[in-house]
Amino acid sequence: MAQRNVFNYPDEMLNKKSREVTAFDDKLWVLLDDMHETLTHHEGVGIAAVQLGILRRVIVIDLDEGDGAIELINPEIVQAKGNQRELEGCLSCPGLWGYVERPEYVKIRYMNRYGKEQFQEAADLLAIVFCHEIDHLNGIMFPDIADEMVDEEHAEAEMEKSPKRRKKMRRKKKKMRR
Ligand code: CO
Repeated sequence: MAQRNVFNYPDEMLNKKSREVTAFDDKLWVLLDDMHETLTHHEGVGIAAVQLGILRRVIVIDLDEGDGAIELINPEIVQAKGNQRELEGCLSCPGLWGYVERPEYVKIRYMNRYGKEQFQEAADLLAIVFCHEIDHLNGIMFPDIADEMVDEEHAEAEMEKSPKRRKKMRRKKKKMRR
């Protein structure tokens, strides 16, 4: 396993569309393992392969809520409901924070690392992370769809206010970076 370098906004790499994974082999598993390592190193909650310069539809999410990490290959949103507007950051956008509107609930279909089809429902923060990461696979960066960008001081104050995020920050001082 190795930690890999992260491409930073506004590098044009991040606007490229990722391709479907067709081979569920060693090469994919090494990529997944490196994504886990890079995500942990940066104390983020999610990472897409494109952020490491690999244009494949692969995502690793780790909300640190005791459920372990989630690996999503070729994910698609099959159902979305409601609305929420929350503060987002990104591993590829150090120091940038902004408000983005997302569905309150999503259901996704994806493959696991062995190519088996899976479904998962998500609400609240996990729904945001699914949408944010799937956007990465389509070359969409949150600062380009945020309705308001805020400075770091505002972002930290906001995170202190949210009980969900405060709990997380206390536990690991992990920022809400995706
Ligand atoms: Co991101």
